[in-house]
Amino acid sequence: PLTTALDSEGRLVVGGCLLSDLARDYGTPLYVLDEATLRGTCRAYREALAEHYPGHALAIYASKANSSLAITALVASEGLGLDAVSAGELLTALQGGMPAERIVLHGNNKSREELALAAEQGVTVVADNWRDLELLAALAPDLQRPVQLMLRFTPGIECHTHEYIRTGHLDSKFGFDPDQLAAVLKHLATCSWAQLTGLHAHIGSQIFELQPHRDLAGVMADALALARSLGHPVVDLNVGGGLGIRYTTSDDPPSISEWVRTVAEAVAAACQERGLELPRLLCEPGRSLVASGGVTLYEVGSRKDIPGIRTYLSVDGGMSDNPRPITYQSQYTAVLADRPTAEATETVTVAGKHCESGDVLLKDLALPPAGSGDVLAVFATGAYNASMSSNYNRIPRPAAVLVHDGVADLVQRREQPEDLLRYDVLPTRLRSVK
Ligand code: LLP
Repeated sequence: PLTTALDSEGRLVVGGCLLSDLARDYGTPLYVLDEATLRGTCRAYREALAEHYPGHALAIYASKANSSLAITALVASEGLGLDAVSAGELLTALQGGMPAERIVLHGNNKSREELALAAEQGVTVVADNWRDLELLAALAPDLQRPVQLMLRFTPGIECHTHEYIRTGHLDSKFGFDPDQLAAVLKHLATCSWAQLTGLHAHIGSQIFELQPHRDLAGVMADALALARSLGHPVVDLNVGGGLGIRYTTSDDPPSISEWVRTVAEAVAAACQERGLELPRLLCEPGRSLVASGGVTLYEVGSRKDIPGIRTYLSVDGGMSDNPRPITYQSQYTAVLADRPTAEATETVTVAGKHCESGDVLLKDLALPPAGSGDVLAVFATGAYNASMSSNYNRIPRPAAVLVHDGVADLVQRREQPEDLLRYDVLPTRLRSVK
């Protein structure tokens, strides 16, 4: 969890930086990323894997959670790998200094260009379907080396999370159907261009239960046995990500080390039961690596009191910088940056500035008296906020700063209104219309 402090006036400090100073210096909305927290979660994965699956495991950051050069560089320096799902994420990873051999490319509909980029760079491709294999086979004659390949299959495991972020059930667009696994493995045995290094499955996201991950280990060990019996010396089992985080006090997820321990023990036990030599263990955390290290700062603007019904406080961002509440009914917590511990005297609804009634960031937030000019700090926004942001209503995306020991480094410049017009084209014949 995020480490915060208070200055002598009781104002909130993160990474040694006073949040209201950051808001003043960089403007709002502002994504603030705390380097110590991000490094701490990376280390938690690394150390738990070293303890519970010694010498033989790697955590791969699911960069869809938050993809940037700075985060890539930080995660790479902590020794983790990276999961990319598009040419854009792949380019960011490579330019951010992530070694190609620690990157995997996912996707249920990869383009020829994405596959070519990955294969040329020596990135492992996670084959999701027959078309991936067809496209790669066509690219193979131009490649200098065999394509490192993992196979993704649907494990048929249900878990309790939001419908939109469940992926392990059979009715999923991701991965080969388990019934097809034998056929794919037999086919791959005939493909000299491919080197099958591993198997992959992912059951979903923001999961608090441990049992589905235990069940997954058994399903994957069966697949591993099948692959090896068909002559593939599979070395990696990639169990995906999915560990949930605490957004509000009612959330109670397992810790990173509990999750890793459960997964590692289950994989080891399932392999031992089947007499299988232990594979390398890969996991792909996204949210649990970066969510808690992020805080978003907003400035409060207008206020609307509807007597007996509700008070709206509107902030200068909303669903364009954090689409999770409107998309998944996600809940967050927030405080006033300069009065985090002041007594809460009212309950407000924090609304965004978008022209949409559902653009509400927090419902029923207890706050001390707040109004125009106050800086609101929303916690746990490091995952799936910046990466899912949009320009709805032509609102520029926020800047991001990385804070560390009292220093803030700009890691993403604020979009400018002119950036939004950069790709617009006005046909000549419309220019004279008055
Ligand atoms: N690996 C694969 C193949 C995935 O599809 C995902 C997430 C992960 C790893 C990382 O899962 P995590 O550890 O972050 O749970 N936008 C949604 C979450 C979508 C997750 C998609 N896949 C949200 O804001 O909640």
